[in-house]
Amino acid sequence: MNTATLVAELRALLDERGLLTEVADMAPYAHDWRGLFSGTPLCVALPRSTEEVSAVVRACAAAGCALVPYGGNTGLSGGATPDGSGRQVVLSLSRMAAIRKIDVFGETIELEAGCVLQTAQEAAAEHGLLLPVTLAAEGSARIGGVVSTNAGGTNVLRYGMTRSRVLGLEVVTADGQIVDGMRQLRKDNAGYDWKQWFIGTEGTLGIVTRAVLQLAPMPRYRVTALLAVPATAAALNVLRAARQAIGDTLTAFELMSGAALELVARHQQLRLPMGDSSWFVLLEASSSLAGLRDAVEAFLGEVLERGEVSDAVVAESERQEAELWALRESITEAESKEGPSIKHDVSVPISQIPAFLMAADSAVVREFPGTRVNAFGHAGDGNIHYNLLVPPGTDSSAVNALVHDVVVAHGGSISAEHGVGQYRVGELLRCKSPAEIALAQRIKKALDPRNLLNPGKVLPIQ
Ligand code: MLT
Ligand code: ZN
Repeated sequence: MNTATLVAELRALLDERGLLTEVADMAPYAHDWRGLFSGTPLCVALPRSTEEVSAVVRACAAAGCALVPYGGNTGLSGGATPDGSGRQVVLSLSRMAAIRKIDVFGETIELEAGCVLQTAQEAAAEHGLLLPVTLAAEGSARIGGVVSTNAGGTNVLRYGMTRSRVLGLEVVTADGQIVDGMRQLRKDNAGYDWKQWFIGTEGTLGIVTRAVLQLAPMPRYRVTALLAVPATAAALNVLRAARQAIGDTLTAFELMSGAALELVARHQQLRLPMGDSSWFVLLEASSSLAGLRDAVEAFLGEVLERGEVSDAVVAESERQEAELWALRESITEAESKEGPSIKHDVSVPISQIPAFLMAADSAVVREFPGTRVNAFGHAGDGNIHYNLLVPPGTDSSAVNALVHDVVVAHGGSISAEHGVGQYRVGELLRCKSPAEIALAQRIKKALDPRNLLNPGKVLPIQ
């Protein structure tokens, strides 16, 4: 491949702001948010339309040059970071950020891939509608990335993963074809549901350029509460009781260890509104019907009386709600200020959470003395961020293998919501069956036979 010819061709295809080639301009595209992965882009293409995306893909395909799609760079798995060869083109869709349409009858929103998630949420809210994909990184995450990584977040318990919100997609395939499936239908069994191939596959099968997402009615009432619980088994009892008492209103059920909140207090200067505890739950319920607060308080009275909850604070204002959520949403930042960590974004069947945590803790302490566990996550859907603060020099691959073996033994997944990126490729190969890997490779071969779309991510380079 003659890279200089390709760069000249891309420059001719795009407008004057459409191509970055200076090292300083490309710097933000050269590494992931955590600074764990870095690479050297050949150039960064910033098309303004699907047609321009298609033209860039065709030019790269003709030159045999790989493309790395780039959204808000908020994934934590290195999925949007190029390799160090200096021969991969980064494709950012940040200039395709329009909100094309909101349909208040069908409760749908039509977006270009570069639209920031929070911007889309705010536009929906103006129509009394909720875009219920809720992430700590929603102020930077872009729709194309959110869809391509099937992002999770804090509302999955009620509204599902991003996949369950996607009604329609437009994609550009590896040969530059534009495939328009921008339908707004909840029911559509007319043939293969091909859009699923592009959701959660991290740009390895095609590039998401537009999406239609299903919205939901904006609940009129919301109650947020912080609960201290003595143990994770008690947290599960509280979850079950909540499901029975206020189940269809339960939006979030977040588990946080006392150690996680101690990091938040130290690094973010955020204070707990109650005394220490081994574990805490942040619970949110929402509904369009009045009487929610009474129902939540009645339920809390019962779990307090049974000793499953030792203390509880219910937010009295939007400000207090935000303060409670800030505790949860600051954990990642506090963790990064504490020092290098090894992250595990795992899920297990909900009933297995206490057994998983116990087995993982004892294995980690036995094999890697001096390690501190920072466990928290979306317990309502079985997703635990089992992050470890390790002494310098710890072999992170050995730590990953140890934790993931415990995950697999408990029927879990080694990536609940952050995806595989380049971070977990080796572990995916180790933890999934050869038949599952072979099936994925057959799909990759069919849709991207020359391995030009995000090579080395999700699956190994063949
Ligand atoms: C979160 O839920 O806050 C992030 O997904 C977690 C992380 O930093 O591991
Ligand atoms: Zn998370």
